[in-house]
Amino acid sequence: MEKSFYTEFKIGETVMKLLEGKVILITGGTAGIGLSCAQAYTDAGAAVVCVGNDTEQIKMTKEILGESGMVLVADVSKAQEVEEIVYRTIKHFGRLDVVHNNAGIASPSKPLHLTNEDEWDRLMHVNVKSILLTTQFAYPYLRMAKGCILNTSSLVAEIGQENHAAYAATKGAVNALTKSMAIDYAKDEIRVNAVMPAAVMTPTLQQWLREQENPSNMTKFLEDIHLLGYCPDGDVIADACVFLISDKARFITGVNMPVSGGAELGYRRNV
Ligand SMILES: NC(=O)c1ccc[n+]([C@@H]2O[C@H](COP(=O)([O-])OP(=O)(O)OC[C@H]3O[C@@H](n4cnc5c(N)ncnc54)[C@H](O)[C@@H]3O)[C@@H](O)[C@H]2O)c1
Repeated sequence: MEKSFYTEFKIGETVMKLLEGKVILITGGTAGIGLSCAQAYTDAGAAVVCVGNDTEQIKMTKEILGESGMVLVADVSKAQEVEEIVYRTIKHFGRLDVVHNNAGIASPSKPLHLTNEDEWDRLMHVNVKSILLTTQFAYPYLRMAKGCILNTSSLVAEIGQENHAAYAATKGAVNALTKSMAIDYAKDEIRVNAVMPAAVMTPTLQQWLREQENPSNMTKFLEDIHLLGYCPDGDVIADACVFLISDKARFITGVNMPVSGGAELGYRRNV
């Protein structure tokens, strides 16, 4: 995994790391985009608490975070478990500066009339209700820290996606939440933003590609939707996230930022 290049700045002769002194709780931090973000945040000097529900990823995540970080297993759709991760973060670090709501699921891949109630509820609970829960439990600490909230949304919130109506609806909700929360919490000096990737080559996407009838056609399709010419790894999202949660973005709130190689402009390469 590539290291983030965007981690240090100078005040006079003193070299400071961009996120030095910050405690960051990231959900879905044990794989894919979240793991890239966790690494970038650690490189930028933060203490990172990674939450995931995949126990097999814990060892690798711990190695990436090193001594300064913490890995917790929890289901972000369950109130009691979210309360516990916030409690353990505060108990261990004594503060909380950033919540990055990144955990998400994308299945099922179906049009809406074939999506059943359980699938709909699961998507809403993991992708949307989780933001309610982290906000409920973390708000007092974010307020104390004048911290920020970052949500991982998706470009599908704006342009839709074939066979993923329910998933796209969850990301539409994330975008609306980002703006409304930014308005509510501005008085507390808590900034709230979101990043919207198009496609990112995470283990989940690789697995999905392997399951397609013609994986090489689909790989080319994923490259072609990005004007900048390739389907990226999580590091490109992580670099944008480092910026958005850093003090360099101190006057930015309520923004749903595409990090998508221009995919939203609608001009596919070579198509
Ligand atoms: N990969 C893409 O192409 C892409 C594009 C746009 C947006 N996104 C969004 O980015 C985020 C991360 O996606 P990814 O592709 O890196 O995913 P991933 O499947 O590679 O990793 C998902 C992470 O979320 C965690 N997670 C899943 N369900 C959870 C739950 N109930 N409780 C706690 N943790 C849970 C997993 O443990 C893992 O750490 C998601 O919100 C996704 O919707 C991804």
